[in-house]
Parts: sequence; C-alpha cells; structure tokens
Amino acid sequence: MSSEIFYDLASSTWGDEERRVVQRIFDQGRLTMGGHVREFEEAFAAKFGMKHAVMTNSGSSANLVGVAALCHRRARPLRRGDEVIVPAVSWATTYHPLQQYGLKLRFVDVELETINMDVSKLEAALTPRTRMVVAVSILGNPAALDVMRAFCDSHDLILFEDNCESMGSSLGGRFCGTFGDVNTFSTFYSHQISTMEGGVLLTNDTEIDHLARAIRNHGWTRDVPPGTIYERTADGFNEAYRFIVPGYNVRPLEVCGALGVVQLGKLDAIVEARRANAATFVRLFAGDERFIIQREHGRSSWFSFTIVLHPQLEIARADILAALRDSGIAFRMITGGSFLRHEAIRFFDYDTAGPIVNADLVHDRGFFVGNHPRDLGAELDRLRSVLDQAVGAGLPTATPGA
Ligand SMILES: Cc1ncc(COP(=O)(O)O)c(C=O)c1O
Repeated sequence: MSSEIFYDLASSTWGDEERRVVQRIFDQGRLTMGGHVREFEEAFAAKFGMKHAVMTNSGSSANLVGVAALCHRRARPLRRGDEVIVPAVSWATTYHPLQQYGLKLRFVDVELETINMDVSKLEAALTPRTRMVVAVSILGNPAALDVMRAFCDSHDLILFEDNCESMGSSLGGRFCGTFGDVNTFSTFYSHQISTMEGGVLLTNDTEIDHLARAIRNHGWTRDVPPGTIYERTADGFNEAYRFIVPGYNVRPLEVCGALGVVQLGKLDAIVEARRANAATFVRLFAGDERFIIQREHGRSSWFSFTIVLHPQLEIARADILAALRDSGIAFRMITGGSFLRHEAIRFFDYDTAGPIVNADLVHDRGFFVGNHPRDLGAELDRLRSVLDQAVGAGLPTATPGA
C-alpha cells in the first residue's frame, strides 16, 4: 500500500511574486482594510464587468453578507419565512446564511450529468412565497444561469449566484458570477485563485454594495459613502462611530487584497491550464458508461474532475476509493454531496420540490479528483488505469459514435 500522494487534490497557485507581496505588505505596516483591498475590489469588478466588488475574509462570508444585505435593503427586503429555491448539491455555507436569516429552503434535485440544478423543475418549485433562487455552478461547470435569470425576471425573484467554485467559467460568453443580483466568489487555497482565505461579493446594485460594506465591518458607516443607505450629519464626533445595520467583522486583510491583485492577473492562464487537463480527462473517460463524468455546460473552469459510478455498476464505491488510495490518488466527496444528507439539515425549515434522486447518487456513488494549473497527463493516465483495473469490465462500454 502506497501512502505517498502521487496525484493530489490541490496545489498552490503562488510563485515568487506572491511571496514578495506577502513580505512587502508585512513590512509596510497597514495590515487591514486599506488600499490593497480596495485595489483588488476595483480590479475584480473591472475584470468581470460589474459595478461593485466587496472583498470579505471568505466566500462563506460573502454569502452571509449578501443574504444579510438582501434582508436589510429598503425595497422588498427578504423576510423571515420567505422561500428560496436551492439546488440539493452545494457547499454547506451556500445554505447556512439562509437558515440564519429565517428563510425557508426548497430543494431541487440536480442533473446527474452536470451536477447542477435541474432547471426543468423550477416551475414546480415556485410557490406564492418564493422570493429568491440560489444558482450554484458546481466545480467550475456553469449552471443554467441564463434559464434561472429569465425565470427570476419573469417571476420578480432575486437571483443569488454562489459562484464560489467557478471563477473564470462562462456561459454564452458571459462570466459566471455576473448573472445574479448578488454574486459571490471564493479565493480559498484550493480554488482557481488563492488569497489564502478570501471572498468577493459582486453586484451592480449600489445599495447592496453599500450595505455589504457596512455589514462586513460591524454595521459601521466607516467604509460607506453617504447618500444611499444613510446621510452624514454635521456631528463629526458621533459620525465617526455610527452603526446603521446589524453587522459582523468579516473584513479581509491587506495581504489578501494585494495577493488578489497578483492572482487575478493570472486567472486566465490558470483557467487555460485547467482546461487543457480537462481535455485529457474527457478524452480518457468520455463514452465509458461505467463512469459518469461531469458534462461541460458552457465553458467550465474545471475546479476538479468528478466521477459518479454508474448506479448499475456492481461495485462498491469504497472498493474504488481503496484502489485510488493505494495508488496515491487523492479523492473526496463532490462538493458537500447532498445537503439533505447532513445532520445540519435538522436546523432548517425546508422541503423538497419533487423527488431528490440524482443528488443522492452524487452523494453515494460520486467522488472527485483534483485539477491543477499544470500538466496532469501522467496523473490522469494513472487514474484511468487504476479505475480500469478496480472496476473491471462492468457495464458494456459504449461504442464510440453509438
Ligand atoms: C459553492 C460554495 N459556496 C461557498 C463556499 C465557501 O467558500 P470559502 O471556503 O471561501 O468560505 C464554497 C467553498 O468551497 C463553495 O464551494
């Protein structure tokens, strides 16, 4: 049994430039919420063609701040008991802020091939209490964001895009993370770009931008220009410490902002390298019925490579995972699997819109292996041969072109 990792889940996207930036920021003195965070926010908004970007200390915090801002906006805020349509597969902190703000979740199953929400079920999920849809593009693969956008527009719903896994992906030539009224990103270590920890909220709505700036910073006016969510008075003493909305401290560090600027400059090259590996992965696995791989919809930035073992394949996932482990190939659950299968669900007010079948298959029969911004030819070859050996002939392999 090999204990050495030959093919890991993630690797650093940093080079010398990032290490120099870290040193420079610490030498400089100002460590939190200064010009570097602001510079990153401006570069980020420009890169994605949106008006406002607000950096937070994580993608989870961006989700929290986004939901909070929607609950505190002036016109038609979200209110306790309002319903939100969500996909059954995502990360825990896609859902937690919704619970924390008293919203009711309506879970919709995912498609087995894309692992994104099955939008043919959207109409069935709609009730008179529905106020929002949460769109998640799983592991780089664009969800049907255009369909969700049109659905939200026609039913006067908010579209919240949790794009924490899919920076650099696009659908119909438009970046994922720009379809929503509120859009969030993560710059955690294993993601497309890394600021160690970090997140971004992206919006064209100035009120949401200002609320998000207050909410990430104690509910304070300190970083918020007057005129939209408050007016400044002549009383300088009280103005300096004015709290206008219930908030948190989820502020990013200057070093994360400065790293973000450097990393954002590398995003296109990183995504290109990930796509080159994806082409190899797809060539090796496409058309093999035993392994259901993620079908690209739009242009994925390929966070990782997912495999769901065909439900009719008479082999336990545990045996496959053991073979991968023995061969030094790291693997893990696909995102968080089905959120309905986690203990945390007992704290939620929720129901399901139709049966949840594919999310369970993803949970029980799926796993992913890593993608990296460097050539993975040898790693993917080993993956292919280990899986071939472990699975055996199994189901008939589809004949190419059949
Ligand atoms: C879909 C999704 N949303 C939110 C998050 C949270 O991001 P972070 O780890 O930066 O808190 C993640 C994390 O991977 C995620 O996959």
